[in-house]
Amino acid sequence: MNPQHAINRHWWDEVTPVHVESAFYDVEGFLRGNSTLGRVERGAVGEVSGKRLLHLQCHFGMDTLSWARLGAEVVGIDFSPAAVRQADDLARRAGLDGVACFFEADVTSAGRVSGGGFDVVFTSFGTIVWLSDLEGWADTIVANLAEDGFFYFLDAHPASMMFDESVATPTVAYDYFHRADPGLEASGTPDYANPDYRIQSPSRQFEWAMTEIFGVLEARGLTIFEIREYPFGAWRHFPDMEEGPDGYWYRAAGEWRLPLLLGFKAGKRSPLAA
Ligand SMILES: C[S@@+](CC[C@H](N)C(=O)[O-])C[C@H]1O[C@@H](n2cnc3c(N)ncnc32)[C@H](O)[C@@H]1O
Repeated sequence: MNPQHAINRHWWDEVTPVHVESAFYDVEGFLRGNSTLGRVERGAVGEVSGKRLLHLQCHFGMDTLSWARLGAEVVGIDFSPAAVRQADDLARRAGLDGVACFFEADVTSAGRVSGGGFDVVFTSFGTIVWLSDLEGWADTIVANLAEDGFFYFLDAHPASMMFDESVATPTVAYDYFHRADPGLEASGTPDYANPDYRIQSPSRQFEWAMTEIFGVLEARGLTIFEIREYPFGAWRHFPDMEEGPDGYWYRAAGEWRLPLLLGFKAGKRSPLAA
């Protein structure tokens, strides 16, 4: 495995059991029927009943299984054996193991998964920041997408990733463009799902500019469409942000309105083609 990803896999193997037990992920609520999908991704992906959906970097499967509850036949891949084990377990507990499969794979070298040909390839929230290589990521998307399917991406807007998350006034603390050798994030940082837990493993995280993301997909012949930017986020990017009733995070009234989420689709066929 790519040595940068090996460092990150260790980090994810450590935090996954903490996440499963956390109020943040609320597994009990999920088992009672709560969905972890928000209005943005549900609206963009649309009707999934009867469709095959591949979820890249699925963590322990809550979003994947939420799509399954909406009628999709789902496959999730993640490089963390701890996450895949927990996802299998959650599928069984939710009674969805007949329509959901999980595989351990690095998303940058997964090749064709379960025969490929997926109607939807989906990824959201906290994904490419973990990848040192978007070329392999794009290869995996192309290898698995049906000719008339689409890839849907929803994650932190690359511009939002430049800012220091500890201060309310936007303060640039990180590069906008990709840097191949970012510093190692030291051990001892609080976990995002359970801040009382201090993570022992280091990690390495990568910035990717919007044109770098689009560029690798376009270079493989995909057409990018339905590009959307949102002034709310999937987490607390700034200390003044509050969670709304829809589960997204909003800046206080009067603060700078910044692009915090980026959503887009990509497909082998242009939606404008006749
Ligand atoms: C923040 S989580 C995914 C977001 C998901 N929406 C969630 O919160 O449940 C990121 C996931 O990416 C996985 N991951 C990181 N790098 C990966 C890689 N190179 N290949 C496959 N999975 C990877 C981690 O194991 C983790 O489960």
